Amino acid sequence: MNLKDTINNSVFSKISDIISGQNIDTYVIGGFVRDVFLQRANKDIDIVTTGDGIELAKQTAQSLHPSPKVSVFKNFGTAMFKYKGVEYEFVGTRKESYSYDSRKPMVSKGTLSDDQNRRDFTINALAISLHKNNYGELIDPFGGVEDISRKIIRTPLDPDITFSDDPLRMMRAIRFASQLNFTIQDDTFTAIQRNTKRLDIISMERIIDECHKILLSDVPSRGFLLLDKAELLVQFFPELSALKGFEIINNQGHKDNFHHTLEVVDNIAQTSSNLWLRWAALLHDIGKPKTKKYIEGQGWTFHGHEFVGTKMIPRIFKRLRLPLNEKMKYIEKLVLLHLRPIILATEEATDSAARRLLFDAGDDIDDLMLLCEADITSKNHQKVQTYLNNFTLVRTKLQEVEEKDALRNWQPPISGEEIMKTFSIKPSPIIGEIKTAIREAILDGIIQNNHESAYAYMIKIGTEKGLTPTH
Ligand code: CTP
Repeated sequence: MNLKDTINNSVFSKISDIISGQNIDTYVIGGFVRDVFLQRANKDIDIVTTGDGIELAKQTAQSLHPSPKVSVFKNFGTAMFKYKGVEYEFVGTRKESYSYDSRKPMVSKGTLSDDQNRRDFTINALAISLHKNNYGELIDPFGGVEDISRKIIRTPLDPDITFSDDPLRMMRAIRFASQLNFTIQDDTFTAIQRNTKRLDIISMERIIDECHKILLSDVPSRGFLLLDKAELLVQFFPELSALKGFEIINNQGHKDNFHHTLEVVDNIAQTSSNLWLRWAALLHDIGKPKTKKYIEGQGWTFHGHEFVGTKMIPRIFKRLRLPLNEKMKYIEKLVLLHLRPIILATEEATDSAARRLLFDAGDDIDDLMLLCEADITSKNHQKVQTYLNNFTLVRTKLQEVEEKDALRNWQPPISGEEIMKTFSIKPSPIIGEIKTAIREAILDGIIQNNHESAYAYMIKIGTEKGLTPTH
């Protein structure tokens, strides 16, 4: 197969001029070539050469206008530059061998064929020649193109060797299957199942990076179900595995919370591409196993799972090396509040309850509503529709209250300073008490959310507490 017309790229032509003059074989290889066949854009291009990768990168950069800056990684024998928004990475063709307890390979010079052998999957081992003699020719020793058309993930060599060499590839196999909706070939999958323990030598950052890619795929449940089936999930994310299964007592069962969670994640993937909202969906019921109880006459309950789940998040984030910053706070908030709109939807939505929800959720109210809508996973279509209709009412109510009371990013209308000045008092706990009383009165709708009403209320409360206004 010749792809001369498909790979129309000015950098490739320059490389071709340079290497053909020196008679060095050079290829574009890996993800970029795979994505040509998948018709996906790819802005990371890998070039392998039988010559010196660093030297070729420098010569290519020099021949371009404007000439990009080359970054050289001498230890790895690689060099890269960015040109017109695309990254080009150059390396010599190589052979790798691994020791059992490290994923750092011993690298030595090899042929193109050695280089293709050491790659993870047949679909990632495709190469296109850039030499003038056969410019555009596809070199596909393992049937990668056929695997793309049959939607199959398969290792080029014995999968036990490929996965043992670099156990991150087990995560990558599942990530590609999830992203591309491909099937992992049986031998390859059973090798993953045999090698799960090898994941131990992989850093959590790299594992989570693959997890992010699974979460960001169109139907993330595909990836998580495979992680579970391969028994990789339990290794790095036991809290999520613990959601699995259900029990029956007195003929009463409860939902399998793992499958429910994945349905919620798939639902949210249809309405938002926000990675952290997808994480919130993944974690929203994480407290359920710890709170599960069967109560005679009531059935299965998970009382307080939102509180317990919220408390579990910092430890999970720390272990998974996720950022312990405002992203985590955002997820904690959504997990903590995820039942509140449901309560609003099932009971009569009072102004006061809506005000409190707006106050607590702040700017995250829209994401919270998306999460709650995604959380409706009943098989009963009628029930789902009723819930969704109720949520529409809740949204209307929230909008009305917000327009009237502007509580989204609430700032106290009376400051501590003003309370001290009004009653000529020094800092003391009573100031906090008055501020809380004002906030509660606003949230309960006793007074309006403005300075005038709050000032009058402050005088009233202060006087009741034995203070005398002096200003
Ligand atoms: N590769 C590999 N084993 C790995 C990582 C990468 O064999 N653990 C090879 C594959 O041939 C891959 C290429 O290196 O195609 C480039 O890897 P990378 O840039 O990480 O991924 P892509 O395959 O391009 O996919 P994506 O950009 O979606 O991560």
